[in-house]
Amino acid sequence: MNILITGGCGYIGSHCAVVAIKAGWHPIILDDLSNSGEFVIERIHEITGVRPTFIRGDVRDATTLKEVFSSWEIDAVLHFAAHKAVGESVEVPLSYYHNNVGGTLTVLEAMKEYGVKTFVFSSSATVYGEPKEVPIQEHSPRNPTSPYARTKVIIEDILADLTEAEPDWRIARLRYFNPVGAHESGLIGEDPRDTPNNLMPYIAQVAVGQQERLSVFGGDYPTRDGTCLRDYIHVMDLAEGHLAALDHLRGNEGLLTVNLGTGTNSSVLEVIGAFQKASGQDIPYEIVGRRPGDVSAYWADASLAKQLLGWRAKRNLAAMCADTWRWQAANPSGFRKPTEARQHRLGLDSHSQT
Ligand code: NAD
Ligand code: WQD
Repeated sequence: MNILITGGCGYIGSHCAVVAIKAGWHPIILDDLSNSGEFVIERIHEITGVRPTFIRGDVRDATTLKEVFSSWEIDAVLHFAAHKAVGESVEVPLSYYHNNVGGTLTVLEAMKEYGVKTFVFSSSATVYGEPKEVPIQEHSPRNPTSPYARTKVIIEDILADLTEAEPDWRIARLRYFNPVGAHESGLIGEDPRDTPNNLMPYIAQVAVGQQERLSVFGGDYPTRDGTCLRDYIHVMDLAEGHLAALDHLRGNEGLLTVNLGTGTNSSVLEVIGAFQKASGQDIPYEIVGRRPGDVSAYWADASLAKQLLGWRAKRNLAAMCADTWRWQAANPSGFRKPTEARQHRLGLDSHSQT
């Protein structure tokens, strides 16, 4: 069983590749490495004993896609390839629409041409915007507030139109909440190219001394400790959710839309506390002004995924922090310096930087 994983060298795609291999799939990874590196392929091999097929290419390139679909009999597609930074999408919206929407169209057109009709799409809780009610259910109104979020809404709508016109497609729109954590081996994890925008990778960089201190954006929200509440989900749980969605699609044509979250929430201060406990490191922080655009609290109603997919997140915040720490401590500079990083792999107590 061959599965095309676009963006499979990235954070979530690489973890899904590991889980897919364990479930008996052979991954064909198509990635242009615009936000990742080829080292990931080696690491997936090291974890699983299987080397995924890797093609360096852009999902917007129809010729590359034709080559892929004509060279392998593809059974399903996991489509991760996209730009994902909310703030950047405000600055360069055309790049976001072109890559995210344009890339998805090219993939779908190639699939149609080759008669491949099983497609799993990385959507996001960001499609909901500021929710009217929490926890958020799948039928809650979508209210995107950034170009990035609008790319996800547009693609969701394209997928709905497609299944309406051609009901034999099997499509999952998976709305991820806040993916964090890393594979328990510490061999793969999140590796932001620049200063991290997101909370967990920032904390992890403070813990290894790559950043001096964390700025906590806002301490005056109407929440239990004044900081924002989010539904952090372990990336391995998320990856297993994709496999559960694929199983579901095997038996069901049409469109599936589910939240992938834990159904619980944590505040920024709780995440800092859990990370300090898991790592034994002090995380210096200061509370600063609110970050524009942040919503005070949102988390998933995760019951539909349980009901339809038989899936639920199993790993708690302590595991998310412990696994992030294992990855970051072993790879203080991410994938970029593999030799030095490997020396640190088992030295979780060392605080050294490469
Ligand atoms: P990532 O940047 O780590 O991975 C995306 C991968 O796609 C990268 O390896 C990048 O090189 C590749 N890529 C980008 N454009 C490409 C193109 N045109 N052709 C080929 N490859 C391309 O991001 P991630 O965190 O793993 O996110 C994966 C997906 O999940 C994205 O669609 C993202 O929008 C979505 N998502 C992510 C989060 C999150 O917080 N990480 C939350 C919700 C949804
Ligand atoms: C979490 C909390 C921040 C950094 C984003 C995207 C969303 C989705 C997931 C893709 C917030 C606070 C953060 C920092 C902080 N991605 N924070 N200091 O904003 O909930 O969601 O990632 O689809 O679309 O918007 O995640 O990790 O950035 O923030 O205090 O240095 O941590 O204010 O309360 P967010 P995040």
